[in-house]
Amino acid sequence: MSAPFRLAPLDAAHDRAAFSCGAEPLDRYLREQVTQDIRRRVAACFVALADGGRVAGYYTVAAASLLLTDLPASTAKKLPRYPTVPTVRLGRLAVDLAFRGQGLGGALLADALDRAARSEIAAHALMVDASGETAAAFYRHHGFIALPDSPRTLFLPLATWAAKTP
Ligand SMILES: CC(C)(COP(=O)(O)OP(=O)(O)OC[C@H]1O[C@@H](n2cnc3c(N)ncnc32)[C@H](O)[C@@H]1OP(=O)(O)O)[C@@H](O)C(=O)NCCC(=O)NCCS
Repeated sequence: MSAPFRLAPLDAAHDRAAFSCGAEPLDRYLREQVTQDIRRRVAACFVALADGGRVAGYYTVAAASLLLTDLPASTAKKLPRYPTVPTVRLGRLAVDLAFRGQGLGGALLADALDRAARSEIAAHALMVDASGETAAAFYRHHGFIALPDSPRTLFLPLATWAAKTP
């Protein structure tokens, strides 16, 4: 990441009015809905702040699960025979068009993986439901594995991530 961004939990002082990532539902969610979701504890939101407190990117995370039978056999065979596997879902991830291509999307994803891997509450993987093929390619580029029967749902085991990071 080249520019100096600060990552922090979203708070009321952050300027998100001008956020524009090219996908209106993601812009509107940040402007109009995320605060309510945080209050109801259905999502946590972290932002990358540019100089002056402007939001340059954000992501949301929440507890989730995957069915053991949906995982690739090579992953499932290493896990206990519980019906579901605990995960953290990356609900949304977006970078403002003005800050694209500087490593910020990758840095936000790394921050989500770090937070999930450091949590005292166990989760096996960070998972995501990619909004389309371009988004799915972004996650595959970062080592995420697609579910065999549902290629837009991808996951990265947190032990794999922790082994890669110092
Ligand atoms: C996807 C998104 C977050 C990427 O943000 P970004 O800041 O431009 O990406 P980065 O500069 O951090 O890219 C990091 C790496 O991912 C790669 N990458 C970026 N987009 C990619 C894509 N669609 N497919 C494959 N690789 C991609 C970059 O080449 C870079 O590779 P490198 O580290 O090997 O050089 C951004 O394009 C975005 O906000 N898109 C709209 C919303 C969206 O689709 N969100 C994700 C789905 S929920």
